[in-house]
Amino acid sequence: MCFYLRVCVCFYLRVCVWCVCVCMRSTEEGLQAVDQLVRTYSHSCSWFLGPFYSLVRLFHPDYIKPLLLAPASITVKDELFYGFLRPWLGQSLLLSNGDDWFRRRRLLTPAFHFDILKNYVKIFNHSSDIMHSKWRRLVAEGESRQDMFNHISLMTLDSLLRCTFSYNSNCQESSSEYIAAIFELSTLVIERRGRILHHWDCLYWRSPEGQRFKQACSVVHGFTRTVVQERRAQLLHRGEPEGPDTTGGEEKKKKRVADFIDLLLLSKDEDGHGLTDEEIKAEADTFMFGGHDTTASGISWVLYNLSQHQDYQDRCRAEVNDLLQDRKTEDLDCLPFTTMCIKESLRLHSPVSAVTRRYTKDMTVPGGRVIPQGSICLVSIYGNHHNPEIWPDPDVYNPMRFDPENSKDRSSHAFIPFSSGPRNCIGQKFAMAELRVVVALTLRRFRLTPGGVEVRRLPQLVLRAEGGLWLTLETLDAPQD
Ligand code: HEM
Repeated sequence: MCFYLRVCVCFYLRVCVWCVCVCMRSTEEGLQAVDQLVRTYSHSCSWFLGPFYSLVRLFHPDYIKPLLLAPASITVKDELFYGFLRPWLGQSLLLSNGDDWFRRRRLLTPAFHFDILKNYVKIFNHSSDIMHSKWRRLVAEGESRQDMFNHISLMTLDSLLRCTFSYNSNCQESSSEYIAAIFELSTLVIERRGRILHHWDCLYWRSPEGQRFKQACSVVHGFTRTVVQERRAQLLHRGEPEGPDTTGGEEKKKKRVADFIDLLLLSKDEDGHGLTDEEIKAEADTFMFGGHDTTASGISWVLYNLSQHQDYQDRCRAEVNDLLQDRKTEDLDCLPFTTMCIKESLRLHSPVSAVTRRYTKDMTVPGGRVIPQGSICLVSIYGNHHNPEIWPDPDVYNPMRFDPENSKDRSSHAFIPFSSGPRNCIGQKFAMAELRVVVALTLRRFRLTPGGVEVRRLPQLVLRAEGGLWLTLETLDAPQD
C-alpha cells in the first residue's frame, strides 16, 4: 500500500475507533448501555467501521471461548487499542505477538510459579500492615471516611515494588517521584484515548500532554534501567541474589527473597539464551503497569461489596479469625467463603472491562457464523459477567454463585476476570494471593460500612468509581496477629 493510502486508512480507522469509543462511553451510563446491548443481543453484535472494517463485540461464553482459546500464533493484539502503551511498556509480553510473545511467555512463566509466589505473602502482609497503621491513625483523628482507591493503589504499588525490585519506596507514607510518574502515565494514556487529535504521534509528542508523558516515561525507565543494570552487575560478581531485605531496611544484610528481576535475569531458554537488559526492563515496567491498578481495583471493590452486605462481611471475618487463631498469615490460601466473595466481586466489578484481539484467520463461532480475519474482536468481560442468560439477576452481589455445587454446570468461560487461553493474565495467582491477604487482614482489623456517597462506576484502564470509592472504617480490637 502506498504511503499516502496508508495514512488515509490509518486516519479513517482512528476516527472510526474513536467514534466507537465515544459510543462506548466510559461512564456509569456507558456500562448501563452495555447492559441494554447484552439484553438485546445476548451473544454478540457487530459495528461496521465503514465498508472495510468491522468490530465484533462478544458477551457470551460460548462465543468468547473459541476466540480466547485460539492459538497465540494467529492472535494479534490490536495496535489501535494497545498502541498508546508502547512508548511506556515497549515490546513486552502484554504487547508482543507471535514467536516473540511465545519466547517471552516461556521465559517469564517460572517467575509466577506457586512456590515463588508463596514467598511474596510476607510482603503483602507487610504492605497491608503499613496501610492499616495509617487507617488506625486516621480513624483515631476522626477521619474514618476514606477513599479506598487512594490508599489501596499506594499499597499495591508498594508491594509490587518490593516483589519486583526489592525496593522499599516508603510510598505509602511519603511521596515518590517514581510513583507519581506511574500515576501520571496511567492518567495520560486514558486522556489520549479520548482525544482524537492526540491519536497522531506527530501531534501528541508536540502537545503539553505528550511532553509530560515523555518526562514521566524517562523517570520510570531510568529507575527500572538502573535497578536491572545494578542487579546484573551484582549477579556477575556474587553469583546469586543478595541484597536489601523486605522489612523496611532495619535488619542488617540478610538473605532476601529472590524478586522478579532476579528471576528474569536468571531465566534461560533451552539454548541457554536469556532476556537482555532492555527486555527485562520492558517486562518489569509491564508488571508495574499490569499489576498495581488492576489488583487495587479488585481489592477496593471487594471491600465495597462487603460493606454493602454486613452478613457476608461477618461470615468472612469469622472465617479469617478462625483460621488465624493458631496459624500464621502465610496460610491464607484456605478461606473458601472469603474466596467466593472475592470471585463474586471480580464478576460484578471486573477490574478489566474488555480485551481486544484480531485474528489472522477467519474464526468460526457457534451457529457456523464466521468472524472474518482482520476484524477487531472486543471480548466484553463486563458484558459476559452481566449476561442474564448466564448469571440470573446479574446486578445482585451473591457469593453463593461460586459455591462449587452451584458452579459445576457453568461454562468454563462464564467467569474470565483474568481473560483466558494462551494470552491470559500471567499474574493471576499473584493477584489472587494478594487479594486474599489484604481482604483477610482488613476484615480482621476493621469493620467497613458504606461511605454515604452514591457510587458511580468509572471504567477507565481499570474499573474505578467517580470521585473515589469512599467507605467508613471502624477499628476493631483484632486478636493478636
Ligand atoms: C486483579 C488483578 C488483575 C486482573 C483483573 C488482571 C487482568 C488481566 C487481563 C484481563 C489480561 C489480558 C489482557 C489482554 O488480553 O489484553 C491480563 C494480562 C496480563 N497481566 Fe494481568 N491482571 C491482574 C493482575 C496482574 C498482575 C499482579 C500482574 C503482574 C505482576 C499482571 C500481569 C499481566 C501481564 C504481563 C499480562 C499479559 C500476558 C500475556 O499477554 O501473555 N496482571 N491481565
